[in-house]
Amino acid sequence: MDTKLLYIDTIGCQMNVYDSEQFAKGLRPMGYTLTSSLDTANLVIVNTCSIREKAQQKAFSFLGRLATLKRKKPDLIIGVGGCVAQQEGSRILERMPHLDFVFGTYAVGRLPKIVKEIELKRRSFVDIDNSGGIDGLEPIAVVPSAEDNQSPTRFVTIMRGCDNHCTYCVVPHVRGREVSRNPANILREIRNLVKSGVREITLLGQNVNSFGKKEGSCSFPELLFQIHDIEDLLRIRFTTSHPKDLSRNLIDAFSGLNKLCKHIHLPVQSGSNLILRRMNRKYTREEYLEKVDRLHSICPDIAISTDIILGFPGETSEDFDKTLDLINKVEYDNLFAFKYSDRPYALATGYPGKVSELVKKERLEAVLDLGKEYAAKKNRSLVGSTELILVEGFSKKQRKSVSGRKINDRQWSGRTSTNKIVNFTKGRGFYSNDVISKGQMIRVQIDKASVHSLSGTVVEGGEKVSVSTKQRVFPPELVEA
Ligand code: SAH
Ligand code: SF4
Ligand code: F3S
Repeated sequence: MDTKLLYIDTIGCQMNVYDSEQFAKGLRPMGYTLTSSLDTANLVIVNTCSIREKAQQKAFSFLGRLATLKRKKPDLIIGVGGCVAQQEGSRILERMPHLDFVFGTYAVGRLPKIVKEIELKRRSFVDIDNSGGIDGLEPIAVVPSAEDNQSPTRFVTIMRGCDNHCTYCVVPHVRGREVSRNPANILREIRNLVKSGVREITLLGQNVNSFGKKEGSCSFPELLFQIHDIEDLLRIRFTTSHPKDLSRNLIDAFSGLNKLCKHIHLPVQSGSNLILRRMNRKYTREEYLEKVDRLHSICPDIAISTDIILGFPGETSEDFDKTLDLINKVEYDNLFAFKYSDRPYALATGYPGKVSELVKKERLEAVLDLGKEYAAKKNRSLVGSTELILVEGFSKKQRKSVSGRKINDRQWSGRTSTNKIVNFTKGRGFYSNDVISKGQMIRVQIDKASVHSLSGTVVEGGEKVSVSTKQRVFPPELVEA
């Protein structure tokens, strides 16, 4: 079989990162290996995101630029997958005739067949069929190969789609109704990942709280409980948890499960009840703050991050002040803020009271500035402490290659349980034969803090660090269905 080169460009959320891995796995038996060089590729797939106008534009501008490459290499096959593909279908090919195929979010499992068809017949193809549910809900099981991402941390999609109807959001349209995977398959997938060296997994879903409810399989806390039992898995994270559904049992899991990292992403979107209602978020700021209090009382050092939308239709300066006030109350460890953007099929697109670009920009900057203040404050509070880090690899700076450095000075990178990036070097007591490796737990003394990361020196590493992964009290019989 010929070896062919596959280049994947992934835009969007972690779900797309996971799906792109599935694309590569599915195409491997057809002779495709991944390349990081666009110019050498035989097949280019762009995995797109439609969450905001800007993300969609990013996809179209990259796809547009591929026309030059196609002119140089007429045999090149170009495909478009993901959320813009599902949303736009054949309109993409009409707009950009140099593209060969469009496959939507339901067609991940059909990708190998589509590519085979194109290779044989060389005619364009569109597959955005959603009538048979998601093909590829259960990922393809393949033996790990050298080309797999060798990171000790990985994403695992546990459910797809979304049954909520937030009025600004395109996801329910492009990803369809919510479906949860079979828990036994999820456990098998994680066990296999752990066998290949993975030590931390992040479970993905638009609203993990409702995992298994429709299917009557098991609740999300129960799933966490079972994953916790997997030997050699050191850390578990999850995202996203919708505040309206964040249950007492899930909050309790933060004190009951040692492997569960002390971080929760809890998107608030707005601090104004009026706006929350018009967004159809189904919680009030008071209910949200009550859950934050409960999280803090169960797990005092939990890190909380959030998403905020600025300039939702009808947002007044009073509404905006309430958002700032809420940020001041929660003191988020990290926040992501976005200017509201009209999306196809989203109800808010037809709402009156659109906020001007200028005002959206001003509000965005104010929120980002405030967010940075708290992120820096939280990071500063860790200076002088010793944190347990899972080593992910060399730091970004190191990867850019500081050649000629002694091995002892190497900068490594990892995260705290609270999801803070820590760059570190070996401390004085360390010798060159004290090996630091990916996937290892290490104790690092924090010396410096900035808004985005921490830096420090290793005080204890490798075998010397004993990590308590034992489950504490969290009786499964207390878990609600
Ligand atoms: N399921 C997750 C969010 C997925 S989308 C949840 O419910 O929280 C990620 C973030 O994009 C959202 O939290 C929201 O802040 C932002 N977003 C979604 N639609 C948007 C839009 N139309 N304009 C601006 N930001 C948007
Ligand atoms: Fe979109 Fe709301 Fe579903 Fe999140 S919960 S994906 S914001 S509709
Ligand atoms: Fe974007 Fe689709 Fe994810 S719209 S945020 S890639 S679910």
